[in-house]
Amino acid sequence: MGGNSFGQIFKITTWGESHGKAIGVVIDGCPSGIELSEEEIHLELLKRAPGRAPDTSSRKEPDKPEILSGVFQGITTGTPISILIPNKDSDSSKYDSIKHLLRPGHANFTYLKKYGIFDHRGGGRASARETACRVAAGAVAKKFLASFGIFPKATLKEVGGQTSYEDLLKEIQGEGDSLGGIVEVTVPMLPVGLGEPLYHKMEALLAQAMLSLPASKGFEMGLGFEAARMRGSEHNDLFIPGEITETNHAGGTLGGISNGMPLVFRVAFKPTSSIFKNQKTVTTAGEPATLNLPEGSRHDPCVAIRAVPVVEAMAALVLADLILLNRCSTIQF
Ligand SMILES: Cc1cc2nc3c(=O)[nH]c(=O)nc-3n(C[C@H](O)[C@H](O)[C@H](O)COP(=O)(O)O)c2cc1C
Repeated sequence: MGGNSFGQIFKITTWGESHGKAIGVVIDGCPSGIELSEEEIHLELLKRAPGRAPDTSSRKEPDKPEILSGVFQGITTGTPISILIPNKDSDSSKYDSIKHLLRPGHANFTYLKKYGIFDHRGGGRASARETACRVAAGAVAKKFLASFGIFPKATLKEVGGQTSYEDLLKEIQGEGDSLGGIVEVTVPMLPVGLGEPLYHKMEALLAQAMLSLPASKGFEMGLGFEAARMRGSEHNDLFIPGEITETNHAGGTLGGISNGMPLVFRVAFKPTSSIFKNQKTVTTAGEPATLNLPEGSRHDPCVAIRAVPVVEAMAALVLADLILLNRCSTIQF
């Protein structure tokens, strides 16, 4: 299986399955001289961890990371940083009764067809457990970005199409159903010049990063799809003396390069596939069947809630990589 690495200079490779012994990430290309502790990474991981907020899955992982390499006396050495996160709270037996069923909205159908084998325990490699590795790597990228005064910030904008959603979420959860949501990222202080045209335009890399997240279904920069319904005279961001542009419809890039305006983009997440309602499906042998999730199964009613720190981590990884790439783009800086 390929596709486990992301980034060009600041490059991560994640490994591990939801119910394996551990998951982890190797970060190659992180510069030396960054102060880094397991505690800082742990704090970031706790933002993503399930079982803490009321509207998230009840799986309770301590998510205590261990830095195995690349840090000496609390400082990155420039060598590969390897971070291990043990899996402690995984009960694989719950999945035995449904392992012969194709799960609507899940990856077991395509993994089985492609690889001929699927680790059904908690979704194996396709599980969002993997996103903990991205958050751990993102914690390192954030430290690097902080030294440039760059702080990506992700927030939950919508759940189920609503900006105020607590009651709706409870109602849907009570029905055993799920909701989708939208996460927005803003990066206020981004210098002009990050992003490598053409295939590595900033928005192209951000889109790849965001659409690599499980359950993500849409990405838009600035006004995004709304721009397609506007006129040029309405959409153009007009330049103003002494500042950059009057408006920021573009979302902070021009020609794939940051223009000094705040970076703004959104990611759409589909409703959680695992729902506590009977669903029509077929067995792996192709026979008609009904999927009824086993009692005690743990799922997020809206994955967008827990995706917030993951989206922020992926944004940090893209920006850290682009800063390093920018070092070999021009002799002007
Ligand atoms: C933070 C996060 C948590 C998730 N938790 C769940 C979950 O509890 N139950 C579920 O069915 N899917 C969950 N997902 C989504 C699935 O992992 C994903 O839908 C599935 O692997 C199929 O991949 P696809 O939706 O990208 O096609 C989560 C996704 C994210 C980003």
